[in-house]
Amino acid sequence: MPKVELHLHHEAAAPPSFIRGLAKEKNIDISRIFDADGNYVYRDFDHFLTVYDAACEPLKTPEDFRRLTLAALEETARHGVIYCETFVSPDFCGGGDLLAWRDFLAAMKDASEEAERSFGITHRTVVTCLRHLGPDQAKVTARCAAETAGDYLVGFGMAGAEMMGRPSDFAYSFDMAREAGLKLTCHAGEWGGPDMVADTIRDLKVARIGHGINAIKDPALVERLAEDGVVLEVCPGSNIVLQAVTGWAQHPIARLRDAGVKVTVSTDDPPFFHTTMTHEFDMLNRTFGWDDADFKALNETAIDAAFCDDATRRRIK
Ligand code: ADE
Ligand code: ZN
Repeated sequence: MPKVELHLHHEAAAPPSFIRGLAKEKNIDISRIFDADGNYVYRDFDHFLTVYDAACEPLKTPEDFRRLTLAALEETARHGVIYCETFVSPDFCGGGDLLAWRDFLAAMKDASEEAERSFGITHRTVVTCLRHLGPDQAKVTARCAAETAGDYLVGFGMAGAEMMGRPSDFAYSFDMAREAGLKLTCHAGEWGGPDMVADTIRDLKVARIGHGINAIKDPALVERLAEDGVVLEVCPGSNIVLQAVTGWAQHPIARLRDAGVKVTVSTDDPPFFHTTMTHEFDMLNRTFGWDDADFKALNETAIDAAFCDDATRRRIK
């Protein structure tokens, strides 16, 4: 089944073998982040963020990002994804220097066009600031995004350590991105409670929420999300491996959907969570009995919530 994926971190979308190969070429030792089978290892969410940074160490040049993008899109397309948006962070692409960032983005766009021709996948990017680097670095990131907004760079968001600061600390950056015409999303309610989801919507005026699963703890908020048409980028496999949720049967995605909330499904960081879009769909089928009609509706929601322009949206429908 053709799939649409809205929540995918760019550097984690390529197979670990790509990252290991690049590290070997450059003589960079990141063996500490892999187990004997070549899988990423980490203890908990905070350690996961540290391991993620280490996995990005070999990615140094625009050419590295060109190759990464090609590997990532080939792997994503292999699971039937026909449209995806990936989260890219200028922090990993020249540290927020605008001239450098333009080169990195051009290299990714080049690879993206090649992937569309070779693998039939359409790809757009969402610049993502890292919350744990603080509001000042978020402004630097937002400026990079605002200066390069266009057909390929379509959105702005925030990932990283959710419990650091409050959403309003980042309002300046989100305002700058919105004024540049970018669509907005933000990780919230993965670790934070319903208040974090509500404050993120109120203070950052985002159309989509990354995860948002803890909204389930406040029925009034669930009702409001449904009424306002806020879209959740839900990543069940990620939530279960990171222990934000205890298991598939306990995952709130079905309850949120049944309450009228617009839910979509993504992998987040597939190799870190031993998942793929195929696996996510399979587990939703097994756990909640979702069938072809449910998945078709899920894809429709995702296409409608995609940040691409309407001509692209019509093409992938
Ligand atoms: N960066 C990569 N994956 C993430 C997640 N699940 N939450 C926050 N930041 C992330
Ligand atoms: Zn994420």
